[in-house]
Amino acid sequence: MEIIHFSAECYPVAKVGGLGDVVGALPKYQNKLNHVAKVVMPAYNTKFLHQNEFEVVYDGWVRLGSANFQARIFREKTNKLGFDLFLVHIADLLDRDKVYGYDDDTERFLAFQIAALDWIAQWEHKPNVIHCHDHHTGLIPFMVGNCHNYRHLSHIPTILTIHNAQYQGQFGWDKLHYLPSFDLRNAYKLDWDNSINPLASAIKCAWRVTTVSPSYLEEISHKANGLESLFAQERGKSVGILNGIDNEVWNPQKDPMLTKGFTVRTVESGKKANKEALCNVFNLDSTKPLYTFIGRLVGEKGADLLPDIFYNALQQSDGEINILVLGSGEPDVEDRLNALTHQFPGRYNAYIGYNEALSHQIYAGADFLLMPSRVEPCGLNQMYALRYGTIPIVRRIGGLKDTVIDIGDGGFGICHDQTNIWDVGHAIGRAFDLFLDQKKVKEIRKFIMTLDHSWDRAAQQYIDVYQM
Ligand code: ADP
Ligand code: GLC
Repeated sequence: MEIIHFSAECYPVAKVGGLGDVVGALPKYQNKLNHVAKVVMPAYNTKFLHQNEFEVVYDGWVRLGSANFQARIFREKTNKLGFDLFLVHIADLLDRDKVYGYDDDTERFLAFQIAALDWIAQWEHKPNVIHCHDHHTGLIPFMVGNCHNYRHLSHIPTILTIHNAQYQGQFGWDKLHYLPSFDLRNAYKLDWDNSINPLASAIKCAWRVTTVSPSYLEEISHKANGLESLFAQERGKSVGILNGIDNEVWNPQKDPMLTKGFTVRTVESGKKANKEALCNVFNLDSTKPLYTFIGRLVGEKGADLLPDIFYNALQQSDGEINILVLGSGEPDVEDRLNALTHQFPGRYNAYIGYNEALSHQIYAGADFLLMPSRVEPCGLNQMYALRYGTIPIVRRIGGLKDTVIDIGDGGFGICHDQTNIWDVGHAIGRAFDLFLDQKKVKEIRKFIMTLDHSWDRAAQQYIDVYQM
């Protein structure tokens, strides 16, 4: 099968969160299964664009209302990512430093989708599947099925994978004329709550919908930022497929970002070396348990509660624990997390910002990783933590529920029910008690490193969905 993935992110080209990791890995694993998977994404002004060689495969124009933009599509020449990568370059719209967060994101992602479809519409052959990821590519199923320019693509099955239903990309009907022409009687397929809603439209128009974990699929019929009834209605064509992780990028034995690589056999000495190096850099005590949080500092992740949770834990533990945070997001949370550094020197530290290498070092060097998420469609951090022998402390929700079993239930992690300071505080206490039993900790570390969360299984599950 020839599968075209459309996405706003793809590691290592451009990554903000887990979407990038998934789109950087799934196509590679689909190719290993002898399919031909390709990725089409915007050309941002990233290092990857400047450090690699490309050829131009398409040159055209995108019209948005009265504005015209030149669109070029570049193909990365060497297939170095394990799949063909195509970058859609639209001067003045997409070639910016950041992936998201601009006032004209609607125009940016709309132009991206139109340029990509204009290009595919010119191909002599047609792909077997168009696979869209999240709302930034959510108008593609509608356009393929309804726009006159793409009529000859309309038999191609379209799949939507929902990585996060909180973000839907809504915009006003005043921008309807940006879309290529279609029969206006079909405009209802774009609508949700009196707006054009790309995520809702994709849920209506895609032939199949997948969520990134089975539990999340159950949850969104009850809680999905206003789309609950739509999910319930389209449940019949929806499947939950748990994300995998890229075992080649996330391999503690060969990870070039670590101080020292390690295997199941050498996990104790390996983690010790990585923990000591981290503690040196961040002025922490490597003889004490090291708790960490890595991620976007937003409400979904429970990040607003972290300052209070950490304050309480550090007060109560009387110097017996360390905490290290890596993240960026809401400025108020960033400030409060930074402020704790001055209150608890030598026991707490925070790196506010994005740092891929540091994230690897933390997964390797930490004892516990906290994920008190309010919403977690899948979550990759807990799977990276497991692979690097770090015990996850997670809320029982979404993909966290599908991947972490509590030690009290014969499992290997620490789970709590709610995102509040008491539940998380209690979980931190349970982890501390566990840490005192080093024999048990060593046993768990060895066990969790052998859990198989690689993409092999999920890559095939997607192929099965395409063929349903
Ligand atoms: P989400 O996509 O909702 O942010 P995931 O758990 O699926 O959550 O994936 C988050 C990804 O982003 C992981 O690869 C994680 O290591 C990475 N990440 C998040 N914040 C940072 C950061 N500040 N620095 C480096 N990596 C980060
Ligand atoms: C989203 C979700 C996260 C998931 C990731 C990759 O960003 O918030 O839970 O792991 O997508 O699918």
